[in-house]
Order: sequence, then C-alpha cells, then structure tokens
Amino acid sequence: MDIKIAVLPGDGIGPEIIAQALEVTKAVCNKFGHNLEYKTGLVGACAIDATGNPYPDETHELCMQSDAVLFGAVGDLRFDNNPSAKVRPEQGLLAMRKKLGLYANLRPVTTFESLIEKSPLRPDIVRGADFMCIRELTGGLYFGRPQGRSEDGNTAYDTCVYTREEVERIVKLAYEYAMKRRKKLTVVDKANVLATSRLWREVAGEFAPQYPEVETEFMFVDNAAMRLIQWPSSFDVMVTENMFGDILTDEGSVITGSMGLLPSASIGVHTSLFEPIHGSWPQAAGKNIANPLATILSAAMMFEYAFGLFDEGALIREAVNASMAENICTPDLQADGSDKYGTAEVGAWIVDYINKK
Ligand code: IPM
Ligand code: MG
Repeated sequence: MDIKIAVLPGDGIGPEIIAQALEVTKAVCNKFGHNLEYKTGLVGACAIDATGNPYPDETHELCMQSDAVLFGAVGDLRFDNNPSAKVRPEQGLLAMRKKLGLYANLRPVTTFESLIEKSPLRPDIVRGADFMCIRELTGGLYFGRPQGRSEDGNTAYDTCVYTREEVERIVKLAYEYAMKRRKKLTVVDKANVLATSRLWREVAGEFAPQYPEVETEFMFVDNAAMRLIQWPSSFDVMVTENMFGDILTDEGSVITGSMGLLPSASIGVHTSLFEPIHGSWPQAAGKNIANPLATILSAAMMFEYAFGLFDEGALIREAVNASMAENICTPDLQADGSDKYGTAEVGAWIVDYINKK
C-alpha cells in the first residue's frame, strides 16, 4: 500500500519523539512491504520563528495532500512566560485542528500489566482499566468567541459555544464506538451549571433510544474526575466537550503509569492526525529523556485508523509491550533506580524488535 504522511515534529521534545515514531513507521512499512512517502512540515513555535505563522499555509497544504499526519507537540517557554505574546504556538495546533475539521479526539486509556506497580494508584484499583475518552476537539471554550480582554485590561472573557450539529456528530460517533466495545457510554458534562452541557445532555438523551444496547450514563465532570481515580475500570467509552476532555485525559494518562504512554487519534472531515496527548516539555528538549512510547503508539493508531492496517498496528503494540516487559524504559517509568534508557535507545530497541520479527 502507498502510505503518504505528513510529519510535523513541532517544538520541545517533539522532534525527538517523532524521530523514533518515524523510524518505527519505516520499519513496519519495510516489514509489510508498504511504500512510505513522507514530508516534514512546520507547526508551533518553530513555524512562528521561520514564518511568523504557527500553522503556515504550506503546512496546511501538506496535511491536506497526505493520507495521515503524524504530529509531535507544540509549545515553548518563550511564549509560556510571555502572556502578552500576540501569536502563540498553541494557536498553530488549534488552527490545524479547526482547518482539518478534526472534531473528534480519541484517547484510549489502557493499563499495561508490566507497569501496574508504577501507577500512582493501587494495583487493585488500576488493574483492568481500559476506556476510550472521546474528546470534542473543535468547539467549546477553545474556539468560542468573543474571547479577550476589556479595554482597561481588567476583565478577561472566554466563551463556551456548542451548536446542536457539533454535539450530534460527536455523540453519534461515541455511540458507534460504544457499540464496538463494552456498550457503555458515559456522557461527562456540567449540566447543573452550564447551558452548553444541558444541550449535550439533551442531544445524548435523544440518541440513547437509537442505541438500546448501550447503557448511557450521565456524569458531572467533577464527579468523573473523582471516579477516574476511585474506579477507573468502570468506564468504557466516555464522551465530553473539549476542555473537560483535555483535563480528564491528563488524569487518565497517569493512572496507567506515565503521561508518556497515551496516544491519540484526531479524526473528522479531512486528513486524520495522530499525536501523543502530552505536550512539548521544553525543559527536557534535547536531553534524550522523553518517553517516545505515546508517539510510537500514535503511529500504531495511524496504521489502524488511517489505513485499516491492523496487523501493522498490532506489531507495534507487541513491540512496545515487549520493551516495557524487558524494562527498556525512559526515566519516567524507572522511579525505582533501575537502568534508564534514553528516548533514542527505547526507539531503537523497538525498531530492532520489529526488524527481527
Ligand atoms: C492537548 C494539549 C493541547 C490542548 C494544548 C497544547 C493546546 O494540552 O492536546 O491535550 O489543550 O488541546
Ligand atoms: Mg492536554
């Protein structure tokens, strides 16, 4: 198969983790006889430095012409420490999501038996946790307007907006996923306070009878945050608005042992995008300490979701599991003083595993 992808490393640790995911992608294509063609593009702070625009038109064109986008992370301390910066790296990510129409972000949270002891939660709590958070990605507070400051600078405002159509398409997708899984859907909202949440609840309530096999559960976001650490295995598919999903998936990721493990797929109208859920961790850039597994697992999702290549995805997962079982892990997973491996060494071990298969 021809596999034509756009590779967007971004900022901070982005280039290092993407380099490993790309090597893994090459190894898999090699093994299965696929013809990989890739081009790299700029997004985030590096794009601002080069062009003034965090998501240049050229990058957008590249994404539109590709079958999938493999993306690292954006963000840079120069901007984090400067609240008055007019152009920000994160705007590039948001523009990319919006222009590619990536309204659904699928964030699977799974536990790895070899890491159970490394979770901050007790093994009996975390064991068996396996759920999919479906985060709405192009609406809500992130995109609602007006947003800004009053003239005197003393008042700031963001607006949370959802249209029925936006809620319907994501809720429908969530039900479809629930049907393919354990048939339980948790709709997370704050309907006791927010008008947008009441629209979500209304729409989900309308879809529920069309999926009688699915058990629908409504949960307030504060309660969901608590339930995630108390009883993570009670979730199957969770659907929620943009900001709640951002927050809950960071929480979900550490339950499994490290933020460096959670991949994601963003799907929607145009080219799908695959990215780790963690950020650019600028403090670690260039130090060869970042965990490449979330990005490597995002490449696995890419094979599965963008190309329907499930054996390829499965081989990557197998290699990742094997690396963890052998304790070939970056420092985030080696709190107990065992040998620590670098980003590049973990990647190389996985490539080697795939080559030898
Ligand atoms: C994520 C990130 C982004 C988000 C940031 C970098 C804008 O935290 O993908 O979860 O908030 O969506
Ligand atoms: Mg986030």
